[in-house]
Amino acid sequence: MTVSQMPKVELHLHHEGAAPPGFIRGLAAEKKVDLSGIFDESGGYKYKDFWDFLKVYEAATSVLHTPEDFARLTTAVLEESAASGVIYSETFLSPDFCGNRDVGAWREYLAAIREAADAAEAEHGIVLRGIVTCIRHFGPDKARETAKCAAETVGDWIVGFGIAGDEKAGKLKDFEWSFDCAREAGLRLTAHAGEWGGPESVRDALDDLRVERIGHGARAIEDLTLVDRLVKDGIVLEVCPGSNVVLGVYPDWHSHPIHRLRERGVKVTVSTDDPPFFHTTMVNEYNRLADAFEWDEGVFDEIARTSLEAAFCDAQTKAKLLKRLEPS
Ligand code: HPA
Ligand code: ZN
Repeated sequence: MTVSQMPKVELHLHHEGAAPPGFIRGLAAEKKVDLSGIFDESGGYKYKDFWDFLKVYEAATSVLHTPEDFARLTTAVLEESAASGVIYSETFLSPDFCGNRDVGAWREYLAAIREAADAAEAEHGIVLRGIVTCIRHFGPDKARETAKCAAETVGDWIVGFGIAGDEKAGKLKDFEWSFDCAREAGLRLTAHAGEWGGPESVRDALDDLRVERIGHGARAIEDLTLVDRLVKDGIVLEVCPGSNVVLGVYPDWHSHPIHRLRERGVKVTVSTDDPPFFHTTMVNEYNRLADAFEWDEGVFDEIARTSLEAAFCDAQTKAKLLKRLEPS
């Protein structure tokens, strides 16, 4: 089996960020919205840097209006993931984009997304779960409303709570209430940190929000005392190397610290973040990592197992998926 054929577990995927550009163009045409400015000549998403990416992301997301739109998005996203061999995926969902943080509306979006995910599971065997995600640059007040939506829909499908968006906006401490609310409701926690913020942002996520996983976390490598803490506490990093290289956090794949983090004993996992925006897929991530660091099937097998262990789904779902990681 080549690494591209191996079964994969993805923990860090933004639902709207996984929308194929053709899908968003089609919806824009149906709704007669002019989105031509966000695409390049070859039809891909066009942006200058991370902050411009966030604007283009929100513009693309603006054509997703109804629960039905999100159901169609889910079908399109899961088809792509399944084609890369992903058997389990956790996706970031934001009530900000699904009913403007109104709990009743959020429930309707969620029902539509789940129905589409169930159909995709029946067709492709891919299992999806949701992580409700507040958006840092929308501020702590909106995050509180988002956390309440999350707490109202906690269960076997909404399994976690997180924070995405502009890592330089505000302080993580400002979101403590939302994370406490989500934790008390029974949700597992993750936060974007250590991508645009340095090691101190990772420490803030651990100390102020008490998360068990870090979205990205690559820049923890700049502080080896922090790296030792990640190892000791078993903190899992949702590393997205292709995203980091395309956005210029690191100049190339060889410079990416995922290999050094792993060698020091950190639990690293591999995800795509916003695959079409970063011209990547899980197969591409695996192939590039194999080339850059001479990672073989044994390494990827360990990464898939680490990912499944760190997944926020229930034990029964994990046990079923674990069987699919065993060689047949
Ligand atoms: N990083 C941070 N925030 C985001 C992203 C991302 O890749 N995608 C959508 N919101
Ligand atoms: Zn992300």
